[in-house]
Amino acid sequence: MIKLPGLIDPHVHFREPGASHKEDWDTGTSAALAGGFTMVLAMPNTKPPIFDAETLDIALNTAKGKARCDYGQYVGAGPDNADKVAALADKAAALKMYLDMTFGQLRLDDMTLWIPHFEKYPKEYPIVAHSESRSMAAAILFAAIHDRPVHIAHISSKEEVLLIKAAKEKGIKVTCEVCPHHLFLTSPSPIFEENGGGPGRGRMEVRPRLATQKDVDALWENLDVIDCFATDHAPHTLEEKDSDNPPPGFPGLETALPLLLTAVDAGPFGAAQGRRLTLDDLIQKMNINPKKIFHLPDQPETWIEVDETAAYEIKASEQFTRCGWTPFEGWKVKGRVRKVILRGKTAFEDGKILVEPGYGVNIRK
Ligand code: DOR
Ligand code: ZN
Repeated sequence: MIKLPGLIDPHVHFREPGASHKEDWDTGTSAALAGGFTMVLAMPNTKPPIFDAETLDIALNTAKGKARCDYGQYVGAGPDNADKVAALADKAAALKMYLDMTFGQLRLDDMTLWIPHFEKYPKEYPIVAHSESRSMAAAILFAAIHDRPVHIAHISSKEEVLLIKAAKEKGIKVTCEVCPHHLFLTSPSPIFEENGGGPGRGRMEVRPRLATQKDVDALWENLDVIDCFATDHAPHTLEEKDSDNPPPGFPGLETALPLLLTAVDAGPFGAAQGRRLTLDDLIQKMNINPKKIFHLPDQPETWIEVDETAAYEIKASEQFTRCGWTPFEGWKVKGRVRKVILRGKTAFEDGKILVEPGYGVNIRK
């Protein structure tokens, strides 16, 4: 049995308010605990989006009554709310800016709309940018011009990791995260191609899209550039994923740790290609770095116990997420979360959630 600090996921989507048939604060934070996460930061692209004092209150009140692990709530950057969100910074996890096309309505196309947010959001918190490829380069330029931290969400490509490496070498305040699905899945991918153009195809939809093997290799080769592992837990139901208009996103809270522990054990592509990930890396990227980047508080008397020898197959039917599927169905992994202790209380043990809704606390209070 190994003991690890409670994991921190700086990027999850719980669908409350607005789409709790996909997930809500109860099922989402239960999935977090089952996956070994004791703290999660929730994204603002709900319905309505979280972008001012009223909507932040709605999200925080819901979380207060329902969350089973500790949490923070992002505010979203809109075309004309820079003053409002800056004033909410001490109550929010951080500011999220959507600079590319994805799920929800919070998108900022015009770069002139970015300026007030970069000027006004307090510099002790990062601006988290959903920015791919060239818009990522633009977001890093904005960080340099305004001499403030920007955290690039879910990087997925070789060009992105190499550009971030170069920007860090110049002293620009940029950090980044990568998601397990961008480390373990590629496009085209046999598991999704089986159905050809058929209904199963929508299941591979995710933003950023799954990338090529060359990109995946570059992420593994440059793990030292990557500050955090984040799940981008983005639950949509199977019915929605298999529809004519499949929304992008994968659930990820309950598969991240076993996938990454399997990579620690055998290397990402099997032991033959060597181990590119250590347990120490994992602790850095899933606890120490997110805590530093987002200024998150300590969680006293908090740890998780993992049976690193337990080998099993991932099954959606055993998960707590409401969405009912996983892109990793049937994957053989090694490493099972046995116990989660959160602030002195056993919150999860042997497949059972043992704390009530409302046990989780807001990390910004
Ligand atoms: O695949 C994604 N799904 N990417 C995002 O940026 C948003 C997310 C969602 O909310 O479903
Ligand atoms: Zn996301």
